[in-house]
Amino acid sequence: MSNTFGKAIKITLFGESHGPAVGAVVDGLPPGLRIDKDRVSAELAKRSGPESVSTARREPDEVEFLSGEKDGYTQGTPLTILIRNTAARPGDYEKTAETPRPSHADYTGYVKYLGFADASGGGHFSGRLTAPLVAAGAILQSALEEKGITVGTHISRLHGISDRAFAEEPSEDIKALKGLDFPVLDLNASEKMIKETEAAKAAGDSVGGTLETAVCGLEAGLGEPWFDSIESELAHILFSIPAVKGVEFGEGFAMADKTGSEANDEPCFKGGRISMRSNNGGGADGGITNGMPLLFRTAVKPTPSIAMKQNTVDLGKGEETTVEIKGRHDPAIVHRAAPVVNAAAALVIADFIARRFGYMALRNE
Ligand SMILES: Cc1cc2nc3c(=O)[nH]c(=O)nc-3n(C[C@H](O)[C@H](O)[C@H](O)COP(=O)(O)O)c2cc1C
Repeated sequence: MSNTFGKAIKITLFGESHGPAVGAVVDGLPPGLRIDKDRVSAELAKRSGPESVSTARREPDEVEFLSGEKDGYTQGTPLTILIRNTAARPGDYEKTAETPRPSHADYTGYVKYLGFADASGGGHFSGRLTAPLVAAGAILQSALEEKGITVGTHISRLHGISDRAFAEEPSEDIKALKGLDFPVLDLNASEKMIKETEAAKAAGDSVGGTLETAVCGLEAGLGEPWFDSIESELAHILFSIPAVKGVEFGEGFAMADKTGSEANDEPCFKGGRISMRSNNGGGADGGITNGMPLLFRTAVKPTPSIAMKQNTVDLGKGEETTVEIKGRHDPAIVHRAAPVVNAAAALVIADFIARRFGYMALRNE
């Protein structure tokens, strides 16, 4: 029954894709944290993505704070974020409950909730629930930035097309990505990726991709050993994002092909502080940040709802059948997932700061 994540700062998600609203309750925020509403709107706009490669379901995603906010500051009481669904069209999904879409959560959701849950557009499993997650993450991203901690994500690969990697010190790259709703560092690669996604859409198909994320400005010492390691907590929230199928830190799976002398990150002194000569481990040792940028990659599968005819079963009749999916869908999820990953990372980092230094350490003044 887990719709709640976090230890010191807890976020609970609620809502359904075609119900009245989606939202989040964030508990454990300090009083007096400034809420930058423009930043919240900007992150939500990025989550909508550019029109030609994103769902035709467009809505303003206006955030209402039902509790916990007063005059632009947190009260320290539970912050309830509500985003009304203004473009719901549940009629598109009349048959979804009977003929589950391949690789969506229609069948597993039907089994778990005994047919009582609204399956329209994926219901509670919909990517739409990432909107309040992004809103909550935007508030924490602003707070972290005032402490010199920045988070940025780019599409490192989309259906075989690669972007350049982050620079060794990714702060400038993170700045360059900030305003982009299709976050790619190399403009040439960006154009190719958009064309590839548009071509998949025209063919009634979809494409997947990989995101690369960097968190800069982190002090060494954040994280816990064993089960609450920084990698464990990040992986937990990243795998909770719909369509995420892989997460790796630093060189990740490629580490397995290296020797120790190739893989080890040797400590050194840089600018009077301890640094590492390389960052193959992705900025964490023993589950605890080592002062290098935190680096991880997230694999996002192709959108399951595609226009092509596919095989499925008819749960009512107990026989095999085919399904032609209606509704409005993203031809790729990867670009829309980028601000979600940034928000998720900000939540985890803020949670670890609150655990180590107390939640008042998150205040910006
Ligand atoms: C931002 C975002 C947008 C998404 N858009 C769609 C969509 O338009 N159509 C679709 O079938 N799935 C979409 N998904 C993915 C599904 O929600 C997801 O594949 C489904 O819930 C099954 O979960 P799983 O892929 O994690 O196993 C989206 C996910 C995210 C994060």
